[in-house]
Amino acid sequence: QWDLHTNWLGQHLVFKETVKSTQLVGHELARENADHGTVIVAREQTEGRGRMSRYWDSKDGLGLWFSSIFRPEYLEPKRASQLTLVAAVAIADYLSKRDLDVKIKWPNDIFINGKKLAGILTEMQAEQDAVQYIVLGIGMNVNHQHDDLHETVQHKATSIYLETNEIQNLNQVLTEILKELENKYEIFMGVGFPVIKEMWEAYAYKIGEWIQVKTKDIWDAKVVGIHDDGALKVIDHLGKQHHLYSAEILWKGEEIE
Ligand code: BTN
Repeated sequence: QWDLHTNWLGQHLVFKETVKSTQLVGHELARENADHGTVIVAREQTEGRGRMSRYWDSKDGLGLWFSSIFRPEYLEPKRASQLTLVAAVAIADYLSKRDLDVKIKWPNDIFINGKKLAGILTEMQAEQDAVQYIVLGIGMNVNHQHDDLHETVQHKATSIYLETNEIQNLNQVLTEILKELENKYEIFMGVGFPVIKEMWEAYAYKIGEWIQVKTKDIWDAKVVGIHDDGALKVIDHLGKQHHLYSAEILWKGEEIE
């Protein structure tokens, strides 16, 4: 049934019907020494989670909800968040090969035509100075029709079906994404983050544009790219560079993430 195009990612594939969250299953399996590259996929999550403890709507069979376990030979814990950007580039490459106009909104949102299609959640377990394992979750809206999207996000979310008008084969989308993700992970581990960073910047949402940043007050900043630590790189009106972390950014002047 599964025709994987990968060497290691997803070669151990755990398929579940309904789980609270594939992230939880991922942590459980990782604690039981699951192999590097183990992937957990669920048809439905009842407590799917997003970044910042948000809820992730994961209805039965409509999207891809999966988590991958990575066991890097050696990775400093502070670099684990770079893996989020690695995954974002993998998803973006997959979508752009399908002729979709994709943008990555820092740090981890995948956008098509101004609407969110997918998100990434990276969680790690570290001991002393080394990452033990990472559970990287990807949620992607695939076959949702407009009414399948939660009413609070209908104006700002989309699915592959809504963008292409074609019902997708979930297994096929998953195998393609795993192939891209394996490839980008190998580049990240082999060549390092700078190459991934360049790929990421080519997809960056609002690069060269002015956004707003909230610290003590709200100020204008121009998006330049990302720093090596994964922080968003912006300049202020005096041309001074800043590192931004997620809680401070107002992308549209309406929502704070
Ligand atoms: C976000 O955009 O906030 C990240 C969303 C991540 C959702 C995925 S779905 C598979 C995995 N299991 C979860 O509970 N969350 C991630």
